Amino acid sequence: MPSNYWGSWFFNRIAIDLGTANTLIFIKGKGITLKEPSVVAIDKTTKRVLAVGDEAKRMLGRTPESIETIRPLKDGVIADFELAEFMLRHFIAKVHPWRRFFKPRIIISVPSGITQIEKRAVKESAEFAGAKYVFLLEESMAAAIGAELPVQEPIGNMIVDIGGGTTEIAVISLAGIVYSRSIRVGGNLMDEMIAHYLKKKYKFMVGEKTAEEIKIRLGSACPNGNSLEEHMVIKGLDLVHGLPKILDITEEEVREAIAEPLKAIVAAVKTALDNTPPELVGDIAERGIFLTGGGALLRRLDVLLAEATGVPVYLTKDPLATTVIGTGKVLDNILLLGKVAC
Ligand SMILES: Nc1ncnc2c1ncn2[C@@H]1O[C@H](COP(=O)(O)OP(=O)(O)OP(=O)(O)O)[C@@H](O)[C@H]1O
Ligand SMILES: [Mg+2]
Repeated sequence: MPSNYWGSWFFNRIAIDLGTANTLIFIKGKGITLKEPSVVAIDKTTKRVLAVGDEAKRMLGRTPESIETIRPLKDGVIADFELAEFMLRHFIAKVHPWRRFFKPRIIISVPSGITQIEKRAVKESAEFAGAKYVFLLEESMAAAIGAELPVQEPIGNMIVDIGGGTTEIAVISLAGIVYSRSIRVGGNLMDEMIAHYLKKKYKFMVGEKTAEEIKIRLGSACPNGNSLEEHMVIKGLDLVHGLPKILDITEEEVREAIAEPLKAIVAAVKTALDNTPPELVGDIAERGIFLTGGGALLRRLDVLLAEATGVPVYLTKDPLATTVIGTGKVLDNILLLGKVAC
């Protein structure tokens, strides 16, 4: 019997953040054991899955005609049930190979916009993957718990989670969601806007992966103020001549490209403040807005939001992992689980 056989008996509580861009898995006693893109590569003709996660993302934009890379979750909803289920099962099997003997308890954080049918589908996939019990948690609640906000107190807490597909804004008090809104604007749209900008301005084409790299390395939400702005040389395709070309782009250009999604995020946060009961707004003004999700890592986004709202804005400790950390915390707290499970 393998040495980790008995270990699996201890490590059978699992928290999963099933995100549009990334899936993260936390195992009690082990910490975060999986962090992979929510991407699946399939053979177009046979519909067979060829790769999942990291391996599938490496294929993005580099696949021959016969292979397609798909994100089973899109805009905060499940776009492809079968592939979402396959991906979830694949990830669970990867981190918990002994699930058939020691059926794990699983908590999965899901976007607040998903329907009852989708919730049931996520639950069934996890059960099919070998789970004994499956609980679901709204990702805004999970993020707020992960950010160590006092969600159970009668205090207004605002969390803004900028993910790949959506930005979710929630106000939480007394373990309940008082206000929540999800807009279909996130990191993926910023990537698309960068690609679109380069195409329009320079007749220059870049793939989804390059556009994301540009955003991560050069993207910012507002000017730096004092030091010189950066620039970067990128590789792509010259659409006029149909040949590979390099192009030097500036930080300011990237800011221009992503101006619209940023405007939408700022507007949604302002609307959320306008629609929150006055006592809770008072708490938020005092305690600040908490920014999380990978999109929160865009440079100076906190500055932009603070200037636009007049409320202090803080980034959570590890924005890409806050939701799974929060989901993991609920694994240990049965009373809290009873209050926040959805
Ligand atoms: N340093 C960075 N600067 C800007 N954006 C970043 C950075 N790092 C990651 N991102 C972006 O964060 C997004 C992914 O964030 P995250 O993993 O929180 O999304 P998700 O939880 O999978 O999505 P959702 O919550 O919408 O389901 C991607 O669009 C990615 O490009
Ligand atoms: Mg997320």
